[in-house]
Amino acid sequence: MAVDMQELVEDSVLLQCRVNETPCEEFIHPTTSLLDFLRENLLLTGTHMGCMTGHCGACTVMVDGSIVKSCITLAASVQRKKISTIEGLGEKESLHPVQAAFCEESGFQCAYCAPGMLLSTVELLNETPDPSDAEIRSALSGNLCRCTGYQSIVRAVRTAAKLYTADKETQE
Ligand code: FES
Repeated sequence: MAVDMQELVEDSVLLQCRVNETPCEEFIHPTTSLLDFLRENLLLTGTHMGCMTGHCGACTVMVDGSIVKSCITLAASVQRKKISTIEGLGEKESLHPVQAAFCEESGFQCAYCAPGMLLSTVELLNETPDPSDAEIRSALSGNLCRCTGYQSIVRAVRTAAKLYTADKETQE
């Protein structure tokens, strides 16, 4: 079936944003979720699909430095904003301090929740460099771990706080 380009453009929104520091320009349907945009248009499948109702946190990404649940965020709402996904956090050879801490403390089991947990931890440590256990649990309350590995996750965030602070001091 031939595609009517005029119809396609009329039903579309031109989304311009930056994803993991890379400029991005794509026509999308106005109802496309940010999760679908990342996974299907950009093939960034590190952002996971879970409940699709904003409850589990598997789809967590950062928009201009604040976490959002991408399954309930319209892609059109991130016009001209900066999106950070797990793919932009660190490299295999040089992990982000938060990734290194989760590896060190076995903060993952099946790791399905990991991308969301890591990005929520980055937001927490940017705002609260030395969080209490209560602050850690509160900050991660929107991210569910179906393996229930919460003890090691809290331990990992405590370690991440130390590594992240040391890493920032080195860069200053
Ligand atoms: Fe978005 Fe669960 S998939 S919160």
